[in-house]
Amino acid sequence: MATLAEPTAAELEQLDVSRAELWEANGWRPHFTRLRSEDPVSFCPQSFFGPYWSITRYEDIVAVEADPATFSSSWEHGGIVIFDMHDTGVQLRMFIAMDDPEHAEKRKTVAPAVTPSEIAKLTGPLRQRTADILDQLPVGEEFDWVNSVSIPLTTAMIATLFDFPWDERNKLPEWSDWAAKIDIGPDPVLNAEREGHVFAMAARFKELFDERKAAPPKGDLLSIMAHSTAMGDMDEQRFIGAIALLLVGGNDTTRNSMSGLIDQINLFPEDWAKVKADPAGLAATAATETIRLQTPIAHMRRTATRDIEFGGQTIHKGDKVVLWYNSGNRDEGVFPDADHWDPTRENSRRHLSFGYGIHRCLGARLAELQLATLIEEMARRGMEPKITGGFERLPSCFTNGFHKMMVTLSKSDD
Ligand code: HEM
Repeated sequence: MATLAEPTAAELEQLDVSRAELWEANGWRPHFTRLRSEDPVSFCPQSFFGPYWSITRYEDIVAVEADPATFSSSWEHGGIVIFDMHDTGVQLRMFIAMDDPEHAEKRKTVAPAVTPSEIAKLTGPLRQRTADILDQLPVGEEFDWVNSVSIPLTTAMIATLFDFPWDERNKLPEWSDWAAKIDIGPDPVLNAEREGHVFAMAARFKELFDERKAAPPKGDLLSIMAHSTAMGDMDEQRFIGAIALLLVGGNDTTRNSMSGLIDQINLFPEDWAKVKADPAGLAATAATETIRLQTPIAHMRRTATRDIEFGGQTIHKGDKVVLWYNSGNRDEGVFPDADHWDPTRENSRRHLSFGYGIHRCLGARLAELQLATLIEEMARRGMEPKITGGFERLPSCFTNGFHKMMVTLSKSDD
């Protein structure tokens, strides 16, 4: 088996960048650097997930996403992650895993919940919640940033969006984690456990959905869906898919960018000092830089619907095509000094962490707002979070993030 070290020329031929240990050990960077420069559209003949193509350069990822007729997202071909949806117990028919016209119809239904004017309404309560959580953190004592900050903040936002019962909100991250566990593969025991959680999620959401349908329309996501033509009457798989998409979309991703922020602050203390000196001016770019470098969703997958010549290779109909956003985001041709977390970077917003084209993330503005608010409030308080060593990354080539991150906090004005 190949090691975590930089691949040799021979290994490059068959390089499998989906291996869990590469992600758990944060060892993927040299592998993708080599692929980008020497084999940017590369075929991996054998992996835990079967054969797949890797697309690693920025412009190639954009080109694939801009051609959804050739590169399909549909669950009918296996869906949008490297692991084939056909192989799971619960096939989540989310609209992210559909092609137009059904995708467009459902996207249009959900979009009104995240327009700039709707998001503006969330701003005040979000800032207050962020301040409350930060002000309760212990100073000078070790604690887990993931559990104390990233999870409660993102869970609260999702509960608000769905108008989910506040005292039950702690179930949301548990359900969302199980729904996003794609790397368990065909293991029957883990799949049964996953199914149990996903069905529990679906049952609770269905009760709430039916209540909202029977009541007059209001502005939360469930009510909007319940009163719409496109989503008011979905079959079970589509219902579960729609809920799981919004939960995973809103939870794991933003959570891991909030933990990734601490990673970047520790790597680039001088840049954090700049943000602390100008919180209002630099928080927004510090947020997009964090999302770029963390890349909370490391990849999306497409399936070729026809044979095509692409990047000097022949991709055949039915082939799996994996778009590595983590790699596109470090493409030096687009982001000079790409590994640097630079809160003054002019083109930071061009990152691919939210994808590109017809499926580009619907929650992007909301995610940016949550992270920028956290950064601004931390910077205003002069917070210095130091990672103390208890650091566990997820063993996943899909959800790129952290189980645990032990930190101690000091304040620069202490
Ligand atoms: C940092 C946080 C986030 C990241 C990195 C992220 C990433 C992504 C990515 C990579 C896609 C697929 C794009 C493509 O295929 O081109 C996506 C789609 C989506 N995201 Fe997000 N997301 C985040 C936050 C959110 C939030 C907060 C929500 C909801 C409240 C959300 C809801 C969605 C939805 C509904 C889609 C499907 C769009 C479609 O298929 O048309 N996301 N997101």
